Amino acid sequence: MENFNFYSPTEFVFGKGRAAEAGNFVKKYGGNKVLIHYGGGSAVKSGLIDIVKKSLENAGVEYCELGGVKPNPRDTLVYKGIELCRAEDVDFILAVGGGSVIDSSKAIAIGVPYNGDFWDMYCGKPVEKALPVATVLTIAAAGSEGSGDSVVTKEDGMLKRGTGSDLLRPKFSIMDPSLTQTLPAYQTACGATDIMAHVFERYFTNTEEVEITDRLCEAVLLTMLKETPRVIADPNNYEARANIMWAGTVAHTNICGVGRQQDWNSHGLEHELSGLYDVAHGAGLAVIMPAWMEYVHGHNVMRFCQMATRVFGCQMNYEDPEATALESIHRFRVFLKSIGMPINFSELGAKEEDIPVLVEKFGIGDGKTGGFVQLDKHDVAEIYKIAAHTVL
Ligand code: NZQ
Ligand code: ZN
Repeated sequence: MENFNFYSPTEFVFGKGRAAEAGNFVKKYGGNKVLIHYGGGSAVKSGLIDIVKKSLENAGVEYCELGGVKPNPRDTLVYKGIELCRAEDVDFILAVGGGSVIDSSKAIAIGVPYNGDFWDMYCGKPVEKALPVATVLTIAAAGSEGSGDSVVTKEDGMLKRGTGSDLLRPKFSIMDPSLTQTLPAYQTACGATDIMAHVFERYFTNTEEVEITDRLCEAVLLTMLKETPRVIADPNNYEARANIMWAGTVAHTNICGVGRQQDWNSHGLEHELSGLYDVAHGAGLAVIMPAWMEYVHGHNVMRFCQMATRVFGCQMNYEDPEATALESIHRFRVFLKSIGMPINFSELGAKEEDIPVLVEKFGIGDGKTGGFVQLDKHDVAEIYKIAAHTVL
């Protein structure tokens, strides 16, 4: 195991009806004037925004609001949010929604105190200052409620890029699983896929002797395999929703990833897909993650066999370990298909002829990237090709 620091300062406020406590928590963490930031309308329709407003009023906290965050959140709304916060003297951002709303909030939080273009921080400049952010989560997926990451898309050129800093970890995150019961099955499945992908990015490592984090990863994966079909079959299954919601946070606070090298190429490859085609991040991962696995499995067949036997219930074939590894990737795809996810380019709405554009946008030039397996642009194109042609 490698040396590590693990800093996860977020207060998680979990359970039914907890959104009504938002005002008290904002006060606890020093907010006087709040921006309530939300998406395209689901949180208004469900009555959640009204609950949050009432709670802020009861706590004597002032607020202004900005809705309209799109999935794959755009820089254009971030600029509006920064202007609004400066004009209204906002000192605290409350994201009410999913990963897109939270990431847009984090971008606004970076931009308000910064004397320049917030996009600098999405091009590699370190985050030095940010307003405090908190969340009321409405979808189990991105894990942004517990992470220090933010991913935003520049509308001009649809360039999707991320930044990260412990300063962006939410002060508190209110997590009421019943709020996710209004999610369409497709979004639920996209979220589940993203949660699993966050684990796989960490599970596939070259670091040895990391049993504790291996086992934590496997626990999250087994939970998702069990609970996802239950919520697809019955969207009102609170207990299954609750397990998935917490799994989403555990998957991405990095508690499963400490002390080990991580990969993250599948996320990079996917961000080009959701950037170019404006598709859901989880759907893009359903297409890319197994294709990446197929391409790299030879790097450490026995690690894939560990996943196969411990997570996907495969019998170990000692004479042909590669067969066991490949069987697990097949089972992963069968699972994804069973929950309604796309498994190839055409099901996703991507085009094979765009592969050169995707590779170019991936932007590694003649270099290499990745933790578990270093990929060059030829490898990247090959993975996109596998994703284009996958059939079950
Ligand atoms: O906009 P509204 O009307 O709210 O609708 C949303 C949106 O259309 C809807 N939705 C959310 N909660 C709902 C609901 N509909 C009904 N009932 C509810 N309770 O779901 C749709 C998707 O929402 P979105 O926020 O986009 O989903 P998700 O949480 O999957 O976030 C995806 C974004 O997070 C980024 C992704 O790249 C993508 O841009 N990621 C962020 C990460 C991070 N910050 O740590 C890590 C991830 O790997 C990921 O890259
Ligand atoms: Zn993700």
